[in-house]
Amino acid sequence: MAHDSLPETIPASMSAMLLTGHGDVDKLVYRQDVPTPRPGRGEVLVRVTATAKNNTDRKAREGLYPTKDKGEVTSFAMGGEPTLTFPRIQGADVAGRVVAVGEGVDLERIGERGLLDFNLYADARRDINLTPDYYGHGADGGFAEYVVVPSAQFHHVPNPELADAEVAAMGMCSYQTAYHMMTSARVAAGERVLVSGASGGVGTALIQLCRIVGAIPYAVSQPDKRAALLALGAEAVIDRGDLPTFVERVLEATGGAPIDAVMDLVGGEMTDRFIDTMIVDMKRRTTYPRLSIAGASGGNLSEIMWTRIYLYQVQIFGVSHGTREEAEQLVEWIRGGQLKPVLHAAFKLSELHEAERYFVNRGSGYLGKIVIVPDSQWDEHGAPFALENTP
Ligand SMILES: NC(=O)c1ccc[n+]([C@@H]2O[C@H](COP(=O)([O-])OP(=O)(O)OC[C@H]3O[C@@H](n4cnc5c(N)ncnc54)[C@H](OP(=O)(O)O)[C@@H]3O)[C@@H](O)[C@H]2O)c1
Repeated sequence: MAHDSLPETIPASMSAMLLTGHGDVDKLVYRQDVPTPRPGRGEVLVRVTATAKNNTDRKAREGLYPTKDKGEVTSFAMGGEPTLTFPRIQGADVAGRVVAVGEGVDLERIGERGLLDFNLYADARRDINLTPDYYGHGADGGFAEYVVVPSAQFHHVPNPELADAEVAAMGMCSYQTAYHMMTSARVAAGERVLVSGASGGVGTALIQLCRIVGAIPYAVSQPDKRAALLALGAEAVIDRGDLPTFVERVLEATGGAPIDAVMDLVGGEMTDRFIDTMIVDMKRRTTYPRLSIAGASGGNLSEIMWTRIYLYQVQIFGVSHGTREEAEQLVEWIRGGQLKPVLHAAFKLSELHEAERYFVNRGSGYLGKIVIVPDSQWDEHGAPFALENTP
């Protein structure tokens, strides 16, 4: 096959879920006549087999990225002009197979199973990412049968023990963010790390990554998820309820030692208590207290006294996504079997509305990720992980 033609087996149009504007799930419209994209120079065409859902799908749809209390919305427009235009195909964490390649890409890549590094990097730098934007927001993503992405960002994951849905569940939106939270705060071997929102996509990645670097993760979650989080690698699970006794319960779990660094995905009224777990006795510390923030599932505003921050020298890191280097390191760990998927369930692409509602209203026992599988791929890649098969 030449670089500039699509194989005959690839139809000219495809099924996709189009986001047609900001609003409720009715803004997501399922179409079966969307032109199949063609790979340009340096790009590959991927037949999507599974794409993980992330919170950002809902936030971007609803326009929920305020940066000031008056509700200014940036929606990842850090580079100036907003990049989210409509219609847009969402879906950041794509797994699939290369079915065609653009000019300059080795034809040998056709057939490769891989995972997308979801970033729309502004430049070629490998160690910094200052304007986080991503496939599914500033460019079309994986809630479709096909997607075009840069060849260098579609990483080969050959591992036969991993299903495609499981590969998608280890997508970079969760795993790279988690890793960048840790590298920003310079989490080191032997350190005690408090992880909030521990049962979610980022939290389950953080627990595993702490263990990989030799740190000790303490998970903040709910009692019904305790056993699963301990099995994943948490040293202890601290119930996020009953805030007044929170610090006491953390210190009980650590044997009285302060937490070295907090990875906060929850925010709101909990963050001030998280800081307490680090500064409770500064004489027992050997490093500065560090707080990495990458999410606000529990509230976007926290009241914290500045004096507490500067007198106790709390170092705070805002984290969005991560770097090319970090994505490549994570793929190495996936290939090496050090990282495990935490997959809750799969949904059909045509049933994305239901998946969105399930994601928002999820009940007890939910851990990790859900993935969306194109209907044409469902029997092979989705059905084994359908909700009715979830324990
Ligand atoms: N900065 C970035 O680049 C980036 C990237 C990915 C995600 N995020 C953000 O990071 C956060 C976590 O993402 P995720 O994908 O892991 O989300 P997720 O899968 O939805 O998990 C969030 C977890 O937070 C906990 N939680 C939810 N509501 C809470 C509340 N009111 N109070 C306390 N805990 C609450 C729950 O865990 P328990 O039941 O275990 O307590 C929940 O499982 C989200 O806010 C997301 O938007 C940011």
